[in-house]
This record gives sequence, structure tokens and C-alpha cells, in this order.
Amino acid sequence: MSTTTSTAAAFTRLFGHAPEGEWAAPGRVNLIGEHTDYNDGFVLPIALPHRTRVAARRRDDGLLRLHSAQAEGGVVELPVDGLTPGGVPGWAKYPAAVVWTLRRAGHRVGGADLSFESDVPTGAGLSSSAALECAVALAYRDLHGLGLGVAESALLAQQAENDFVGVPCGIMDQMASLGCEEGSALLLDTRDLSRRQVPFDLAAAGLELLVIDTRVKHDLADGAYAGLRAGCERAAALLGLPALRDLPADGLTAALDRLPVELRPLVRHVVTENDRVRQTVELLDAGELAAVGPVLTAGHASLRDDFGVSCPETDLAVETAVAAGALGARMTGGGFGGSVIALVAAGRGGTVAAEVRAAFAAAGHGAPRVFTATPAAGARRLG
Ligand code: GLA
Repeated sequence: MSTTTSTAAAFTRLFGHAPEGEWAAPGRVNLIGEHTDYNDGFVLPIALPHRTRVAARRRDDGLLRLHSAQAEGGVVELPVDGLTPGGVPGWAKYPAAVVWTLRRAGHRVGGADLSFESDVPTGAGLSSSAALECAVALAYRDLHGLGLGVAESALLAQQAENDFVGVPCGIMDQMASLGCEEGSALLLDTRDLSRRQVPFDLAAAGLELLVIDTRVKHDLADGAYAGLRAGCERAAALLGLPALRDLPADGLTAALDRLPVELRPLVRHVVTENDRVRQTVELLDAGELAAVGPVLTAGHASLRDDFGVSCPETDLAVETAVAAGALGARMTGGGFGGSVIALVAAGRGGTVAAEVRAAFAAAGHGAPRVFTATPAAGARRLG
């Protein structure tokens, strides 16, 4: 490596030899298109400037040695031959999952020393786990010359999360981490993974995007996510469709009449949300960024009232941000806590953040963490 970064220096200190390279993969926020990815629908995420860096060196003794500057407990040592789904506790399961998935896919890869450093907030709905997985996928791709493209790497990382970690997530987070570009949002068709970079120049439009991490993560999140996914799949099957993406907006009312009452709001959310992605992209393409605000707020109402994945803290953040002058706001990510995004006029971010902090304090919630996001680059090799 030509330059010595803090991640590389930590690696050398820990493992007693220099890394072969260093990679970084970002977290994300999704502008719009929530709970659409496992319905073969559309999403529109941006990559955050926050990223997970990994310094890596291959080992030839079949050992995976993992260290994270953000975790207690020192180096975790795992024999790659012994990796089994559900068998690795804590943060180490994410990198282990990627190595296990690569091997299951027939790639002849072995152990490695991997040292991580991350500023992606964890448990905040900002895809810290996808960032970790994608950083490892890129490191292994390059160190072993695997020649995997963005979509192939993302699918591997998603399988790692589905089959080793045990979370039945869609493909959005991994595609966002690997496929986003600076200055743009990524319009992704999650059915065939075709995609387009949609310019999202906040500064030129006189806008800022606030990310409000409520610092709340409700325990029901994982089981509830799986239940919602199953409900959507059941509705599609009852309608005789491959996925809810195949239900057009003008067929919604007739379709709802054919479904059991409890599935109707789920279907309504997914169909209207795909439409909100389309509207948002049209507005961005027309350079009308401020007009996206109400679409975001409508998306939040749908997640709250129809999909049932908001919570008092995300609702309060959205309501307060809008009352304080935000052009629009919504929860982002899977829900049940996590983060809210708010589109605000440049210079208004401080006021909106202060109002949200005050409202949280008044409601007895812990202080949220607020920062401004600009669309950053996707995962890449650093050195
Ligand atoms: C989580 C999942 C994604 C997606 C979102 C909801 O972030 O990992 O695949 O389903 O929830 O849009």
C-alpha cells in the first residue's frame, strides 16, 4: 500500500504485517421506495459519506481473524471451514457471512486478516451491516481476482445477510452501498437490478437533507419485517401476480376488494410507494427538487398508517420537522425506530434540528443525533 491510513496502521499493529489493500463501503439513506425491494419494486437511495473501511490480507491457514475499532473484545478468530449459519455471534457474523457465501457459491477463497473502522451509525437504519458486508465482498473480490460486478457482489452480500445472518432483507442496501455515485440518487429496479443515476444536487437547489437518527430500535423489528414480507408475498399470490410490483396503480381498488382485510393496507402502501418513486424521479429529472418534499411526507403517512412500521419517535421527528419548516420528511429504512430524513431549505437545518431536539426532550425521548447528508460515492478500493 502506498499510503498509511489509520485503518492500515491499526491493521499492522494488530496483525504484525501490512495489509494488501484497503476498501471502503458506505451506509445509505433511502429517499423514497420503502418496503418495495422485496416486492420487486423501485427504490431511490443515496450513499452516505459515512463508511466502513477494511484493511485486508489473505491468510493461507484457513483462519479468519477479524478486528473492529468499534467493538469490544479484541480479535475474533474463526476457522473458515467451521463457519455455520447462526454460529457466529455479534458483529463478526457479517464478515464471516460474506466469506461463507462466497465459498458456498464455489469461489476458492480462504481465510484473511481483516481490520475494520467505521463511522456508519449502528442500529440507526442506515445500513451499517450492508456497509460491513460490501466492504468485505470488495476486498475478497479484488484479493482473489473474482471479477464480480456490482450486482453480483450485491446479491452475494444479500445472500450472506439472508442465509447466514438470518435477516430476510431485500437488495436495496447492498446495491446502494455498492452502486451509488457521488451527487446522485440511485434509481434501482429491484426485479432485474437495472439502474440509473439520477442527479440530486441539493446545494444547487438551495436545499439540505437532514438525517435525524432517533436512536431508537424496537425489538420487534426483525420478526415484524419477516411478517410484513410474508404478508406482501401472500397478497401477490392471492392476486395471481409474481410480485406486488406487477399490480398497476389503476388496478389497485379492484385488487383490494379481492383481498382479506388485513392484507389491503400492505398492498396499498407498496403500490402507492412505487408510484411515489416514479413521481420523485420525474421531479428530480425536471430539476424540481423542492417539490419532492410533499411526496416524502406522503410516503411517511403511508408507512405509518398502511404499513405500520413507524413509531412514536419517528412520527414526532417527521411532524416536528415539517412544522418547523421542512419541505417534507419521512422515516427511512426498515422502520420501528431508526432514522428520519427531512428536506429543508439551505440554512434552515439548524432550526429544524433544534426544534426536533426540543420536541424529543419534551416528550421524554433521548436526544436524537442529527447530521446533514450529501449523496456520496459507493464502495471502492482505497489503496
Ligand atoms: C431494510 C432492508 C431493505 C429494505 C428496507 C425497507 O433496510 O434491509 O432491504 O427492505 O428495510 O425499504
